[in-house]
Amino acid sequence: MTNFQGVATEVLPVDAQHPGPEAIERAAAIIRAGGLVAFPTETVYGLGGNALDAAAVRRIFAAKERAPSDPLIVHIADAADLSRIAREVPGAAMALARQFWPGPLTLVLPKQAAVPPEATAGLDTVAVRLPSHPVALALIRAAGTPIAAPSANRFTRTSATTAAHVLEDLDGRIELVLDGGPAIVGVESTVVAVDAAGVHVLRPGAVSLEALRATLREAGHDIPVEVARPQAAPASPGMLEKHYAPRARLCYVRGPREDALARLRKELDAAAGQQAGLLLPDDDLAALGDVVSATTVASLGPSDDLEAVAHRLYAGLRALDAAGVEVIFARQLTGDGLARAIDDRLRRAATTVIEVAE
Ligand code: TXA
Ligand code: MG
Repeated sequence: MTNFQGVATEVLPVDAQHPGPEAIERAAAIIRAGGLVAFPTETVYGLGGNALDAAAVRRIFAAKERAPSDPLIVHIADAADLSRIAREVPGAAMALARQFWPGPLTLVLPKQAAVPPEATAGLDTVAVRLPSHPVALALIRAAGTPIAAPSANRFTRTSATTAAHVLEDLDGRIELVLDGGPAIVGVESTVVAVDAAGVHVLRPGAVSLEALRATLREAGHDIPVEVARPQAAPASPGMLEKHYAPRARLCYVRGPREDALARLRKELDAAAGQQAGLLLPDDDLAALGDVVSATTVASLGPSDDLEAVAHRLYAGLRALDAAGVEVIFARQLTGDGLARAIDDRLRRAATTVIEVAE
């Protein structure tokens, strides 16, 4: 894998809401020429290349050092382009697209022949998303082609939510980063497969299970919606057990707050002598009191503001890595839809998961 060596990565600032046409045109020209551009989306930064150009898609895999068995998401800017990518769109998928696009929902559908097998890891299905971020939309439109874009991080590592994170992982491997400031949501899109048997949530994300169910019910689709369980041969490699991981070891405690905090104290004691980091909401940090002074801290904001927590999650993991901690402690937060996505990412990022019971 040497074909990315020697690329000078340029960083071009863009206004997140009203990206200037010059910057967008420069980025679009790179995509059309088979190059790679990282760009902000509302979820995380994407590492984009022309989805219909097999060579560009291979470069995405090389730059990320991504396993070729892990398929990409194809991003479009107009729902009318869905039929260029997917050869069949079941009614239930249509209803979800109508409700959640533009936005953080990815639909897995039967693929069109125009999508190269490299993009879908040889599967007969393709993942499609219509993002809401103005920079992403402007780039796809100007490029005049659907853009394949995984999260802009090295494979199995923490996703990038700022241009600086992208450079940490991909400097020298891609032509350009469009810097539109931090991504908004902070965790990736919800990935759902829709087939005759129902709707399968392959990766929990910004669109909650409850919202999916409500939309289908209102649209008159009486079909089951279920969270796919991690399998030996994953239906979605984003379900790989090791993913989103920091360099430090991550100890993740799941269970009710008081019990989890008590267990965290014990684990911190046991880790005395190692450089420890805490990735916790403000109220937990306050509850831990003096213990906190011996650690490096990344605050997630108030525990009842899950949008703030999601927004800070990956930046917190990266900040603790940058501070050189050896072990990071985090705990499960309970709550609505986003809590499921946050729990999913921390569980997969963890080296050790501890379950405490009441
Ligand atoms: O929010 C997001 O989805 C971001 C932004 C950039 O759009 N993208 C992203 O891409 O998270 P990536 O490649 O990191 O994750 C794509 C997920 C993986 O879990 C992959 O296995 C799954 O989608 N996926 C892609 N194509 C699939 C397919 N045909 N069948 C099942 N899962 C698929
Ligand atoms: Mg990813």
